[in-house]
Amino acid sequence: MAMMQARSDILVRPLVESDLGDAARILCVAFGTFLGLADPQRFLGDADMVRSRWRAQPSGVLAAEHNGKLVGSNFIANWGSFGFFGPLTTEPEYWNRGVAQRLLVPTMEIFKRWGTRHMGLYTFADSPKHLALYQKFGFWPRDLVALMAKPVGERPDTSVPDTVPFSAVSPEARPGVLAACREVTDANFRGLDVGIEVRAIAEQGLGDTILVWKDQRLAAFAACHTGAGSEAGSGVCYVKFAAVRPGPRASEDFVRLLAGVETFARTAGAQKITVQAAQTYSTPAAPRAPAQRPGAVLPPRGVYSACTISRPTNDEVFMNTSTVPASVHLEPGVRPGDRIAVSLDGAAIPANVPSDSEFTLTAVVRGTHALSATVIEEATGNVICQTPSVTFHVHQPTLLSPARQ
Ligand SMILES: CC(C)(COP(=O)(O)OP(=O)(O)OC[C@H]1O[C@@H](n2cnc3c(N)ncnc32)[C@H](O)[C@@H]1OP(=O)(O)O)[C@@H](O)C(=O)NCCC(=O)NCCS
Repeated sequence: MAMMQARSDILVRPLVESDLGDAARILCVAFGTFLGLADPQRFLGDADMVRSRWRAQPSGVLAAEHNGKLVGSNFIANWGSFGFFGPLTTEPEYWNRGVAQRLLVPTMEIFKRWGTRHMGLYTFADSPKHLALYQKFGFWPRDLVALMAKPVGERPDTSVPDTVPFSAVSPEARPGVLAACREVTDANFRGLDVGIEVRAIAEQGLGDTILVWKDQRLAAFAACHTGAGSEAGSGVCYVKFAAVRPGPRASEDFVRLLAGVETFARTAGAQKITVQAAQTYSTPAAPRAPAQRPGAVLPPRGVYSACTISRPTNDEVFMNTSTVPASVHLEPGVRPGDRIAVSLDGAAIPANVPSDSEFTLTAVVRGTHALSATVIEEATGNVICQTPSVTFHVHQPTLLSPARQ
């Protein structure tokens, strides 16, 4: 690939073998910093995806360089008609200086050259930065993907009928098995081909691919990573890709495939099976409840024996909505001459609300919010009581591209 001068000071070029150490370090520091880990370098433990992905397809990895120093990289996967990119990472001290965008321009060119029909990526659904960055390149949120995991059971190994690992297939038979895998993926999504993953696992010893046969035809397969240096790391079996041939008995084949994966995981000494590399992070701290206004008169004791937000409840999550039902509970009910004032994230909501009946917060944006209320004596403006603040979360996962609405 020709060298690409992306911006006067950032050079984008293919990643080469001597970059692998720096690329792996930047990947961990970038994710670890973004997720707020105490030691960002330990983000992946002994898992690795930089070396194995580069070895599988060096032409699908881009490097960003500044003054001769690696400052970012992007890994682009060619799964036939489908392509995805990531991990895309840049050195934290370079964030928001356009490095990722410099990497994404040639990424799109690579997809075009490969003839990719459908492109995608995984990202952080709650990060406005990530959403804004990818929207510049035409990617819009589509599905929330459940990251599932299960412990590997203690059961003694049971062999699953007609299930064999790719590692047991003779070298002469492997091209035929890869063609069968392609048939299964093509039946699910035209042109989908993950042969590169099956080959990488076999050639680099990253785990194994579990093959489920029925009537001498491949019914299902799962490409699994396990062990240090793979995308799973020690003690984990990561199912990077799995597919079942569509048909009336697909669910049976799927169950057999899962059993085959679990048997493989147990044999490989894994304690856990995952279907996506685990990432743990904490949600940002909720905004603090507004401090009581200076000079406010202390509430007289005994006017209200209860003064709380009864809806939403603390840490309640609202999915795919911008309206939130709310309610304030006062014991006894609101006195004549008092009014309830509500504030969201420290800003007053311009409406008087009734006691113990529901009202609606509208146009609530995605994120974590704090709701509180005060009871104010109209005649004096004194705060009679203040509710504890309640934290709630709003997710709006299905922002659709304007083109799809
Ligand atoms: C995500 C990541 C790759 C972005 O790299 P970067 O070099 O900082 O990205 P860029 O500077 O090219 O682009 C970021 C854009 O988002 C914008 N942005 C930043 N914060 C934003 C916010 N809160 N809301 C909206 N846009 C925001 C920036 O202004 C910039 O756009 P601009 O150039 O139009 O001003 C980098 O932050 C990173 O490595 N993060 C950790 C690993 C990670 O999350 N990788 C991606 C996984 S999908």
